[in-house]
Amino acid sequence: MKLFSSVYDVPNVKALVDEALQLKQNPYSYQHLGKNKTMALVFLNPSLRTRMSTQKAALNLGMNVMVLNMDKEGWALELRDNVIMNGNSVEHIREAAAVMGQYADIIGVRSFPGLKIREEDYNEMIFNKFVQFCGVPVVSLESATRHPLQSLADLVTIEELKTRERPKVVLTWAPHVKSLPQAVPNSFAEWMCKADVDFVITHPKGYELCTDFTNGATIINNQDEALADADFIYVKNWSAYEPYGKIFPGNGDWMLTNEKLKGTNNAKVMHCLPVRRDLELSSEILDGASSIVVHEAANRVWAAQAVLKRMLEKLSD
Ligand code: CP
Repeated sequence: MKLFSSVYDVPNVKALVDEALQLKQNPYSYQHLGKNKTMALVFLNPSLRTRMSTQKAALNLGMNVMVLNMDKEGWALELRDNVIMNGNSVEHIREAAAVMGQYADIIGVRSFPGLKIREEDYNEMIFNKFVQFCGVPVVSLESATRHPLQSLADLVTIEELKTRERPKVVLTWAPHVKSLPQAVPNSFAEWMCKADVDFVITHPKGYELCTDFTNGATIINNQDEALADADFIYVKNWSAYEPYGKIFPGNGDWMLTNEKLKGTNNAKVMHCLPVRRDLELSSEILDGASSIVVHEAANRVWAAQAVLKRMLEKLSD
């Protein structure tokens, strides 16, 4: 594997999930793979889980790790071609990415969307330029439209905790006060549509996701109806795809509560975190027995480790 940016970079999703679960049992069995290899984690936006879990995964594989908070510590990047750089940007992404590729064997990049110009975000301009110019394998640490390491960890968690062969998984929109990216729900939908699950998406009208990501999902606007008999409920806010990046007033009653879990199959509640308590998800759920959000975050290590292992194996081919 030379690129991990979406589910389409994975030839066999089930095998990768199984590998992550095996690594969870034996975290240090492949330390030889990463000996004298360096991972660079480049953040253009904040992170807790992705930063720490990917760093831990790389260390478990014997790699050295460098972290660059590009937004705070790096030079201001120019992304456009054919411009005279007489404004605020100091360094072009062409040189910056190429230089990083000289220092690292694998690069991870986090770059959020601007949520202003849809075409720019959905063309993955920043992430793709890193891939184009760095010359080494690249892992997405969340891009404008996808968060594949999160989605892999989510699928690992579902596989690990499911109580019936083909569980019902529901992605439900949740309230928020800010305009948030569609990357997590897009990505979760894309991975669930490839998994052996019954997958339902529920959201208020107006929050339809791009259909490129939801092909194969059942979409129901009535949340109670969607949640019926669910085994897993994935809670997440996102802004509108059309009009792009907008949020609409109201819908506070979409926050998941214990009352809403009554018609489910003893559903386990997931969230990628960070989560705003009692806005996006109720404290009674987060503090109760149905929440598996911390378990899910812990599985980020094994998801990242499975991906990095595949990349290191490719490097030593
Ligand atoms: N879920 C997730 O990606 O968390 P961070 O933004 O803290 O990395």
